[in-house]
Amino acid sequence: MDPDQEKDFLDSIVDSVIALDKEGKIRELNQATLNLLGYKKKEDLITLPFEKICKNFSLKDLRNKIPLAEQELMYLNKEGKEIPASVNISMRASYPDDTVFMARDISKIKELVDELTRSQEGLKTSYTELKVSKDDLVRSEKLAYTGRIAASIAHEIRNPLTNVSMSVQQLKKGNKIKQEGFKHVDIVERNIERINYLITELLNCARPAKLNLKPYDIHKVLKDVLESNKAKIDLQKIKVTKNFSSKLPVLKIDREQIERAFLNLITNAIEAMPRGGNLTIITELNGNFFRVKIHDTGKGIPEKDIIKIFDPFFSTKPQGVGLGLSICYGIIVSHGGTIEVESKSRIDSTFTVSLPTEQRLTQTHTHRERVK
Ligand SMILES: Nc1ncnc2c1ncn2[C@@H]1O[C@H](COP(=O)(O)OP(=O)(O)OP(=O)(O)O)[C@@H](O)[C@H]1O
Ligand SMILES: [Mg+2]
Repeated sequence: MDPDQEKDFLDSIVDSVIALDKEGKIRELNQATLNLLGYKKKEDLITLPFEKICKNFSLKDLRNKIPLAEQELMYLNKEGKEIPASVNISMRASYPDDTVFMARDISKIKELVDELTRSQEGLKTSYTELKVSKDDLVRSEKLAYTGRIAASIAHEIRNPLTNVSMSVQQLKKGNKIKQEGFKHVDIVERNIERINYLITELLNCARPAKLNLKPYDIHKVLKDVLESNKAKIDLQKIKVTKNFSSKLPVLKIDREQIERAFLNLITNAIEAMPRGGNLTIITELNGNFFRVKIHDTGKGIPEKDIIKIFDPFFSTKPQGVGLGLSICYGIIVSHGGTIEVESKSRIDSTFTVSLPTEQRLTQTHTHRERVK
């Protein structure tokens, strides 16, 4: 091929072709290279070091590895803009010291891959959100179901229980039973009370009582709960830290119920630290919500349990009934709030309650769980 034919041949190739001499300077290039890099004349590039148009390039590192196929290199155009390129690198038969770079612009492919990755991430987020919503739905459905069952069971059990209770009262009156019998009657009475308590608790968790909303200082509620647990806190050598927000602690709440919800959370935190630890209560205003975080350095919650802890009667404690968190959940949700939990098994747990600052009792409610 004479030089003209060779030039014509090179310029008809759609990929960029560049030949470098042994110093790494551009010896030859084709029209596609000018198009790719935005130069007008070949003379603008001839004798330039290849580093000028290829980012982080080192001929020394490459030389022993040639030939190389589909290397991803970053070309730089006239304005310094990066152009990702897939490059085949080979020796030149007639000039063995020369290296030839045949490059194809892959910026479009890169953009597509980036877009695909972004959509994949979006899909992942949507899936997680969907799963959380599904868990919320299952949970509220479960609570509603428990509510219906509880209401009918309570009705069925309470009547005969009242009869049993009245009969026991009758037995105690007069001298119908001997001394020995009193012991057993006491046992019956205690068990009637226990059954009554469980039925009431179950009803509470399934259908929290009607709210009696009044403006109340939420910090006062938290302080009262801590005060009522002072003996246990001292006995178990638990260090309490209050990090209270200076803003808006007055919320429209049913004080009794909210106190009950926080009592359940703080009691759980204390029970998780039988040999001491730190109980931290943080409050903060977050948009339209007032957040209360209850953090303990106790047992933490294993990943397998985290989905179950709000279920009625789920308990890992020998004496636990397993209604504390279900009751708490019902109360917070009926206030239009949310409750989230994050826990590292055997390290710590944080329960975050968010209550709306303007009372808008909604049906939308969530709880979230997270395990680290
Ligand atoms: N702060 C915490 N640290 C570790 N585990 C916790 C914590 N809070 C709740 N749990 C787990 O969640 C379970 C359910 O809690 P929940 O308060 O509903 O019931 P309980 O405390 O076992 O019994 P009770 O009805 O007396 O409250 C607990 O048994 C415990 O396994
Ligand atoms: Mg509890």
